[in-house]
Amino acid sequence: MSQRPIDELCAALQAEFDRDSRGKGISSLLSAYQAEHRDWDDWALWSDERYTRNLVSRGNSFELLLLCWNPGQESPIHDHAGQNCWMAVLEGQLEEIHYGEPENGASERLVPLEKGRAKSFGEGGVAFIDDSIAYHLIRPAGGVRAVSLHLYAKPIDTCKIFCPDTGQAEDVALGYHSVRGELVGSDSPEAIRGRFFPGP
Ligand code: SIN
Repeated sequence: MSQRPIDELCAALQAEFDRDSRGKGISSLLSAYQAEHRDWDDWALWSDERYTRNLVSRGNSFELLLLCWNPGQESPIHDHAGQNCWMAVLEGQLEEIHYGEPENGASERLVPLEKGRAKSFGEGGVAFIDDSIAYHLIRPAGGVRAVSLHLYAKPIDTCKIFCPDTGQAEDVALGYHSVRGELVGSDSPEAIRGRFFPGP
């Protein structure tokens, strides 16, 4: 049986990380996949409550997730636990807003995060971020739903979320709504624990 295009993508991503651990060719692989395939549609999953996190593949080098966003849903401001993050828009449009620590933000004081640039990515667009660049918030733009692929290298099980007004950080565990199209049971250790999603 022939492989699903999304699994061929995962094999190509793995080969790229084996060739170059910084993943120089990852953006091109993600946007080439977006231009040619829609098999991700089988695993797209929507929720009225929050955007969904759906695992496509996970190994030692990376994890690949399909995220589905309804209008009005957004991620909290978060870091990437020291890992690299690529985001490729498969459908719709996503806005990414950068945030950073204020220059004179003393650790004892509560100070608002500094808002950085906001940028919209349309279908085929790929964004890259790591903690040295910024923290970020992601949300759909244009009043329509959106779907994106997120690649974390290496996989991330926990991250920090930030209050924009006080800069206070909280450690949260991440989870999945589904794994390769199968819903994750609420009692599974892989389930979403809720705290990552303050809600729209
Ligand atoms: C997430 O992984 O749930 C947030 C999206 C991102 O940081 O790319």
